[in-house]
Amino acid sequence: MNDPLFNITYGLFVITASKDGHDNGCIADAFQQLTSLPEQVSLCLNKADYTCELIESTGRFTASIISEDADLELFQTFGFQSGHNVDKFASFGAVRRLPNGTLAVIAGTNSFISVNVEQTIDLGTHLLFIGKVDEKEELNDAPSMTYAYYRKKFLNKH
Ligand SMILES: Cc1cc2nc3c(=O)[nH]c(=O)nc-3n(C[C@H](O)[C@H](O)[C@H](O)COP(=O)(O)O)c2cc1C
Repeated sequence: MNDPLFNITYGLFVITASKDGHDNGCIADAFQQLTSLPEQVSLCLNKADYTCELIESTGRFTASIISEDADLELFQTFGFQSGHNVDKFASFGAVRRLPNGTLAVIAGTNSFISVNVEQTIDLGTHLLFIGKVDEKEELNDAPSMTYAYYRKKFLNKH
């Protein structure tokens, strides 16, 4: 039997942030809509992630919604290495600069949502960011990738 927590359905996102002309991003599942009027969302990131540091100091991020078209390279680029050590965007060009200064990832994704952070809650190992949607756009109608789809496609796990 599975841990019931594994049976919660999650999406997958490239979370991007920028500071002083430097861009970074990581993969996260813990992004979700909280309310619709106004449109508020939350994001939970590990404090060790460089992206978490950038969001904490700038109060802005963009969540690009990963689609089922995404290849393993997207996860390798943004999820398996840290911006503390590498410039992830040096070798990744499928981006669009948004008015809030962050980059949207426009390949292997179907939409992006930019957020202005209004509250940050310290959860010990992680920070929980709560904010309002600033800008959003659908890029195509490819289905969003769930964590379960990722595990099956790339890790061969059910
Ligand atoms: C499928 C997948 C899901 C992930 N979900 C999260 C998450 O929800 N929160 C988080 O803090 N890190 C998550 N990670 C790990 C970060 O993407 C990873 O630690 C990344 O290297 C951090 O990069 P940074 O230090 O440049 O921000 C996930 C990674 C993968 C591959």
